[in-house]
Amino acid sequence: MARVFSGIQPTGELHIGNLLGAVQNWVRLQSEYDATFCIVDLHAITGAFYDAAQHRQRTLDMAIGILASGVDPERATLFVQSHVAAHSELMWLLNAVAPLGELERMTQFKDKSAALESIPAGLLNYPILMAADILLYRADKVPVGDDQVQHLELSRELARRWNAAYGGGATVLLEPEPLLTKARRIMGLDGESKMSKSKGNTINILDSPEVIWEKLRPAKTDPARKRRTDPGTPEICNIYDYHKHFSPPETVEMVAHNCRTAAWGCLDCKRVLADNMVAVLAPIRERAAELTGTPGRVEEILAAGAATARERAAETMTVIHERMGFLPAR
Ligand code: TYM
Repeated sequence: MARVFSGIQPTGELHIGNLLGAVQNWVRLQSEYDATFCIVDLHAITGAFYDAAQHRQRTLDMAIGILASGVDPERATLFVQSHVAAHSELMWLLNAVAPLGELERMTQFKDKSAALESIPAGLLNYPILMAADILLYRADKVPVGDDQVQHLELSRELARRWNAAYGGGATVLLEPEPLLTKARRIMGLDGESKMSKSKGNTINILDSPEVIWEKLRPAKTDPARKRRTDPGTPEICNIYDYHKHFSPPETVEMVAHNCRTAAWGCLDCKRVLADNMVAVLAPIRERAAELTGTPGRVEEILAAGAATARERAAETMTVIHERMGFLPAR
């Protein structure tokens, strides 16, 4: 069976960008692939949102969000990155073949470091840890949104370089391919940048119907629709894009028609979207409430996941240690 691996930062709650761009794909893939999903709490310490006092809770909340979205621990392995020490170790070993120039050229590094006076090395090395995550499980496919594609390219490069240096002609580390969905980039409520917690433009999967409406009501639409009688262009409106992901096809068609002909106003359009979004997210909210109401259940799932992941990671690490010439520990 081919293997998929993917990861997500524990920023707290899943937003609909994560859900549509990645996690829904995880749920589909878990029945066709040998699937491993990881909450990357080690990556998160380089992020703007990291807060030691909230780190545990956010990690648990992320696990709840992923499980509530349909990742099934009977079919997929779900675990927390810091519970499997091999991630950090392989990252260090890959440092030996990681080209500094390419790390400095990563778009996310450039964006994130531009805002900082003092740049932590972890921000630069972030994609090496990501490569370690993937290469440890010899994943063939990595379901992600398009913001992670460049990091995946680097993972491929590190696999090639490591194989060339230590593989002795064998492909020890596999080059992973990205798997994108049609929702590869969900824009935020501001309509200007991709949906992301750091931009404060998210709808979270556990937001209540009231909060969803509060967020959608002022959201940006086609600026040509100043008055209710001004016709619009649905293709340039973010709200129309959301409809495509949450409303049935007939509704999407009607939305486009009513927008082009100014048959309704943006608020009417948003009201329909809010109702459909609430309906799609309702079963997720229900499952999340169930999980929250069963103390210890999530921790138990994560412990079992970590045990499986540790075993698999150890197999890869044994080969890597051998090839790199380390003295075996007795
Ligand atoms: P993260 O935590 O930022 O996002 C998790 C997943 O959600 C996708 N995503 C989006 N997709 C569409 N539209 C959006 N607005 C949007 N926002 C986020 C991301 O592309 C991602 O698939 N570095 C990674 C985590 C990571 C990882 C890995 C991923 C660490 N190790 C190994 C894959 C394999 C990150 O920060 O994703």
